[in-house]
Amino acid sequence: MRKQKILFVASEAVPYASSGGLGDVIGSLPAALCSASKGELDVRVIMPLYGSMKDSYREELTKVCETYISLSWRRQYLGIYKLEKNGVIYYFLDNEYYFKRPTLYGSYDDGERYAFFCRAVMEALPIIDFFPDVLHAHDWQSALTVIYLKRRYAHEEGYKDIKTVFTIHNIAYQGVYGHEILGDVFDLGYGDREIVDYNGAINLMKGAIVCADTVSTVSPTYALEILSPRFSNGLHYVLEQNKGKLRGILNGIDIDYYNPETDTELFANYSSNDLGGKAVNKKELQKLVGLEEREDIPVVAIISRLTGHKGIDIVMLAAEELLKDKIQLVVLGQGDYTYENYFWHLADSYKGKVSTLLMYNKDMSKKIYAGADIFLMPSKSEPCGLAQMIASRYGTVPVVRETGGLYDSIKDVGFENGNGFTFAHYSSEDLIGAVRRAVNAYNDKENYKSLVKKVMEVDFSWDKSALEYIKMYKELLA
Ligand code: GLC
Repeated sequence: MRKQKILFVASEAVPYASSGGLGDVIGSLPAALCSASKGELDVRVIMPLYGSMKDSYREELTKVCETYISLSWRRQYLGIYKLEKNGVIYYFLDNEYYFKRPTLYGSYDDGERYAFFCRAVMEALPIIDFFPDVLHAHDWQSALTVIYLKRRYAHEEGYKDIKTVFTIHNIAYQGVYGHEILGDVFDLGYGDREIVDYNGAINLMKGAIVCADTVSTVSPTYALEILSPRFSNGLHYVLEQNKGKLRGILNGIDIDYYNPETDTELFANYSSNDLGGKAVNKKELQKLVGLEEREDIPVVAIISRLTGHKGIDIVMLAAEELLKDKIQLVVLGQGDYTYENYFWHLADSYKGKVSTLLMYNKDMSKKIYAGADIFLMPSKSEPCGLAQMIASRYGTVPVVRETGGLYDSIKDVGFENGNGFTFAHYSSEDLIGAVRRAVNAYNDKENYKSLVKKVMEVDFSWDKSALEYIKMYKELLA
């Protein structure tokens, strides 16, 4: 039987370039699909070649070709490279003018950078000789591939049978630009205006939702939530109209990469049956980040982008009240200046009790996942969230707000099979209540041990969700 060909189009993938959960998913789901399909799927990934990619990975690259492509009136260099990892081929599109920047996103010309990327993906298909059965694009940076396919390439040989899936990892980022750059930057014509137009502007995510054969998001609850104005960042009308092709599939994590038994970033390894190493990690973490070395005080951790939807506002309202209790707090993340500033000052006022690390650092995050006792994730909205799953894997009991993927992955201990502490209302009082319940549970040593064991043993691997993706592709190709 011929293998079915799936091409992931995305702006990041672990370990080559990553700024958050999207990178984790693109770095692990393709291999999970290959193995869950027992070799029936040939899944490949195409992404930009960023200047920040480590030399050790660069050395593995082989060159496919060098060429020039056009984007509106521009003629731009395009280098195509590839490498293979865990049976998955990754293609990297090179153009230093666009991708050799200090950060992945946040440049004034992101619209043009990702328009170039999407055009390059389309032009690369014949060159890499891989016309997929399904082009699976992720988030706004890849949205134009779905739009280009439908509007510009639909009748061309090779392209015309390609089906498309567009996955929303976070609806807060939609790729919104003024109509004046429709042709000049996005290389679209007047006839395409209606497809991308939303609220008087170009909205690339909207265009992809309209053009894609299937739209998915990263948890079943978020798929429902984004139909309402509270969660949709304005896109509920479009989603409502396209509801028939919308579905939610919960993310998983790479349980080999996040494995306390083998993780080399940890101070000591441990497992659900032998938690001894976790205490070592706690002690070393406290030493490393300047917290008082106290075995008896629970360490509460926040590892998060410091942005509005992560619920930082209610953390700010709750922090000083919580810090009256015997707890320690460690915060790792970057983001809005106000939040960074707040945590910086909090650490300054509570030396030995609060530690703030304003950075995105995977190695450091693993030390915290392993060394902390309680993991706080009070998001206002959360498409899926991976941190609560990673924390669980490392035996750090999650406290989450019941929204999106947090609701789908963590059940309160008050219920059968509960694996964490949850609260429903977005308020600092409810957050304090949930953290205090977790701290009380922590102080009941013997019962806590069995909770930690239970939390660690929850299956957050890709196994189940990979089968759902396979089913989705099958239905699409039937
Ligand atoms: C985004 C979302 C997060 C999700 C991740 C991967 O970062 O904010 O909730 O887990 O994408 O899908």
